[in-house]
Amino acid sequence: MRTQVGIVGAGPAGLVLAHLLHLNGIDSVVVDRQTRDHVEKRIRAGVLEHGTVDLLTAAGLADRLLRERMVHHGVELLFDRVGHRVPLTELTGREITIYGQHELVKDLISARLDTERPLLFEAADVQVDGTELTFDVDGTQTTVECDFIAGCDGFHGISRAGIPSSALTVFEREYPHAWLGVLAQAPPASDELVYAYHDRGFALHSMRTPDITRLYLQVPADTDVADWPDARIWDELRTRLDRDDPRWQLNEGPILEKSVAAMRSFVVTPMQHERLFLAGDAAHIVPPTGAKGLNLAVADVAVLAEGFAEYYAGRGSGLLRRYSEICLQRVWRVQHFSWWMTSMLHRVDDDPFTRELQLSQLRYVTSSTAAATTLAENYVGFPMA
Ligand code: APR
Ligand code: PHB
Repeated sequence: MRTQVGIVGAGPAGLVLAHLLHLNGIDSVVVDRQTRDHVEKRIRAGVLEHGTVDLLTAAGLADRLLRERMVHHGVELLFDRVGHRVPLTELTGREITIYGQHELVKDLISARLDTERPLLFEAADVQVDGTELTFDVDGTQTTVECDFIAGCDGFHGISRAGIPSSALTVFEREYPHAWLGVLAQAPPASDELVYAYHDRGFALHSMRTPDITRLYLQVPADTDVADWPDARIWDELRTRLDRDDPRWQLNEGPILEKSVAAMRSFVVTPMQHERLFLAGDAAHIVPPTGAKGLNLAVADVAVLAEGFAEYYAGRGSGLLRRYSEICLQRVWRVQHFSWWMTSMLHRVDDDPFTRELQLSQLRYVTSSTAAATTLAENYVGFPMA
């Protein structure tokens, strides 16, 4: 088999790239090691930047998203039992969209299938060797000769190893905490997301639909989800989200999904080597506090697709050569923002000095227009290239 771009991984990065290439008449083969069902049910993040939605809309990928999404114009920071709204749209003119990543992935898979270009799930033993992509589907080994490879196979994928370690620099920071996330069959208790700083640890009240709440608790990094029966989760959420407002009440309901996610900051540079390009989680991870992982993946492939379009239109490989350099500008801005949000909102130790600094920063961000605008501008995201 032959193709122009071999794409490893059918997450948001791989699928959006495949579609942008299709719109430019560029052929690709997408392979993923998981089943379609697994990929479509994997619960991940749910906040889309304004620019991400614009890009998906322009690509014709947002029909259901625009019908079913929840549009938010602010977020709330809760500390000392009082909520403080950051008016995102008032400060930036832009909004955010709440739409589950797995719902987006369903839409992307369906759009890919409509193009009748190849999308292969359950590919075993996926390997990249130069521009050769090999894998096993139903016991048959296939080799695809590609002009280029796009490594969109997430943090645990194999593509990154296609760049010799002598050519790679790895930047990494691990955090002593993780997020315990639950999806609950309960109407959100608030119209907007609530980021809560509490002496017992951070909590986040988010949502997916008018009937489904998404909630997170800061827990130690080595937490076993089995130690968190539902009643303990609700107790802790009630405590950390409580406030001096008699109208506030957390809505509880059956827990549909529960998992612990590690937190790390991670970047590899460069994000390319010869004809291999890394995009999304394969190249960088951010802690989830800034809600950026999916948006950064889409921003990468927007640049990559432009580069391929330029190349196949016979206009040279200038953009492809600068792919990593262009992406890393945004990657590091988002790394800083995600680290900053994480540092401001999580209890790390019993150090009273750190606590006072965090509270001072929270008071600053919620009282100074300049500081609130900095948060808002980063949170809603910068326009795509
Ligand atoms: N071979 C083929 N496919 C692979 C391999 C492999 N060896 N390893 C992983 N994959 C697949 C995974 O099954 C997954 O479907 O690659 C895909 C990677 O998708 P994501 O992990 O979703 O990564 P990405 O597309 O970069 O999306 C960005 O943003 O919200 C955050 O981390 C969250 O998934 C999100 C990410
Ligand atoms: C989510 O809804 O899953 C979510 C929202 C905001 C974040 C992270 C995750 O910062």
